[in-house]
Amino acid sequence: MDFSALLAASVARVEAGLDRHLPPADARPARLHAAMRYSLMGGGKRLRPVLLLAAAGLGKGGIDPVPAAVAVECLHTYSLIHDDLPCMDDDDLRRGRPTVHKAYDEATAVLAGDALLTHAFALLGESYAGHPALATALVRELGSAAGSRHLIGGQMEDLLAEGKASATADELEFIHLNKTAAMLEASLVMGGLVGGLAEPHLTTLRTAGRQLGLAFQIIDDILDATADTATLGKTAGKDAKDGKTTYVKLHGLDASRRFADECTARGLAAVTVLPGDTAFLQALAAKMAKRST
Ligand code: IPE
Ligand code: IPE
Ligand code: MG
Ligand code: MG
Ligand code: MG
Repeated sequence: MDFSALLAASVARVEAGLDRHLPPADARPARLHAAMRYSLMGGGKRLRPVLLLAAAGLGKGGIDPVPAAVAVECLHTYSLIHDDLPCMDDDDLRRGRPTVHKAYDEATAVLAGDALLTHAFALLGESYAGHPALATALVRELGSAAGSRHLIGGQMEDLLAEGKASATADELEFIHLNKTAAMLEASLVMGGLVGGLAEPHLTTLRTAGRQLGLAFQIIDDILDATADTATLGKTAGKDAKDGKTTYVKLHGLDASRRFADECTARGLAAVTVLPGDTAFLQALAAKMAKRST
């Protein structure tokens, strides 16, 4: 298996899907659609949609997973636009470019995020209308992961814990499992749903996504503390400056690296027992653990 070539092909498939399934930049109002495309088409690792396509590839095929992959990336990108707003993390740089509220303005950034969030669900409804049970399951999965008990709930606790000296390991785990791991979990499960995998395998995908997702956010915390802004394409050292509750702050760098490795090992163990050819997913999980951006 040539992992790099397969990964590049999967990213290219996602990016072609993004271009195809998003309103054109000159659709009225052009400022809004241009801002949506600015944030979405300007880089990013495309990890969540690539995970979705890989999980779908374990199943029987026959239904196109690309619209679901696009929906997940739209949802994720909305969460980044809003995460960067002055009232949230107040970041100027994202994916190596000025954040949307810097390149446009704050109101446009709020609306571009709203529009990407909404578009994700419209796209699922429209693209899987011929498979109503699948469409319902996908909307339910993404809606749950993106909602107040998961992504938004994690973001809320992340902000509430800012500057808090006494945040507990339990609060920290809640933040990371929900603001980040829930979307990686949903990406794998949605892929499994499109691929027609049976219930026990969906549960295994959920476990894998949760563990790999937790590792992903721990590594994000580690990179914030150790990498430079040019490499990350977002402002380094921001968590300590803002008093964020992170793995690095609570547990230190060495223990954080160990936690991330343990989560990756649990995620990989789950991936290995999935049906079909799991070689790509295994290699992807291993690559995520060693990432430098
Ligand atoms: C950034 O996600 C936000 C986190 C959940 C840590 P990514 O690191 O996947 O960002 P992009 O999509 O590659 O820009
Ligand atoms: C962001 O976590 C999680 C979401 C966007 C939901 P961070 O605030 O750590 O992400 P970065 O570091 O800004 O990418
Ligand atoms: Mg944040
Ligand atoms: Mg942030
Ligand atoms: Mg971060």
